[in-house]
Amino acid sequence: MKVLVTGASGQVGTELVAELERRRDRVSSGMAIEVVGVSHADLDITAQDEVIQLVRTVVPDAIIHCAAFTAVDACESEAEKAFEVNGRGTGYLAEAADEVGAHLCYLSTDYVFDGTLDRPYRETDPPNPMSVYGRSKLAGEQTLDPSSTIARISWVCGRYGNNMVKTILRIIDQSDGPLRFVDDQHGCPTIVSDLVPMLIDLTASRQGGIFHVTNQGPTTWYEFVRAIVEYAGGDPTRVEPIATKDLVPPRPAPRPMNSVLDHQALVAHGFTLLPDWHEPTQALVRALR
Ligand SMILES: NC(=O)c1ccc[n+]([C@@H]2O[C@H](COP(=O)([O-])OP(=O)(O)OC[C@H]3O[C@@H](n4cnc5c(N)ncnc54)[C@H](OP(=O)(O)O)[C@@H]3O)[C@@H](O)[C@H]2O)c1
Repeated sequence: MKVLVTGASGQVGTELVAELERRRDRVSSGMAIEVVGVSHADLDITAQDEVIQLVRTVVPDAIIHCAAFTAVDACESEAEKAFEVNGRGTGYLAEAADEVGAHLCYLSTDYVFDGTLDRPYRETDPPNPMSVYGRSKLAGEQTLDPSSTIARISWVCGRYGNNMVKTILRIIDQSDGPLRFVDDQHGCPTIVSDLVPMLIDLTASRQGGIFHVTNQGPTTWYEFVRAIVEYAGGDPTRVEPIATKDLVPPRPAPRPMNSVLDHQALVAHGFTLLPDWHEPTQALVRALR
């Protein structure tokens, strides 16, 4: 399986390329893997001609599309760019994948939901994004035909890039004052080291459709941050709960209050679910320390 990875120097892309390279080098793995990772510097997915040229040159069996404009608050004031990258850019990759017969796996987000349901969101629930970022990622989903894989993920934390675990480790090294985090936004963390094998399995299976792929165990940002502080050897009582409405300054992009994702599509297709988030988060803190 020859896999083209976009966004290869982003948070998910970096660990994904590394894992694909490890599997390439593992003689006993059963399936021969070749990986071509392209960063933003190598390929701008909004340049349609470049996208088609690259895909015609590489002729991948699969494309795992991690590139995106992910600055959620900046998207509110840069809507055109958000739709260009996350919507149309995804469409260019889909067209190119179709031309060479490559299976496309697109990373999407819990932000496609408005967060008003009082139960976990199923893959079949109608999306209703509240933010420009969410609308642009949904526009990306809508460029794909049903044979593509859409993996919706949330609250992503890994060794590279920017995420809540890295932010908290940085803050507790720099100060010892109170840390205030919202306790009324509910979701599931996705730890990249658990996500990556699932992305590879989903892609190798060429299973089309929408899949919610997160670690198990709903939490709030407040509870998640308390756990991170504790795993880092700090004092979790430093973390104090606040309500989203009391955030100063308020965030430009509205966040879904409930974006807990249900995993019934993975179950229905016989995939083993990702584990509960606590242990992988602790392992990530240990690795980053
Ligand atoms: N992080 C989360 O919590 C989260 C949650 C839900 C879904 N997702 C989705 O998961 C995927 C991976 O996220 P991530 O956390 O790895 O994000 P990331 O660290 O921001 O990586 C995205 C990469 O895409 C690149 N990129 C941006 N514009 C591009 C363009 N026009 N052409 C080519 N590359 C471009 C960025 O490069 P530059 O930085 O150089 O521009 C960056 O390296 C994205 O689709 C994201 O929407 C993430």
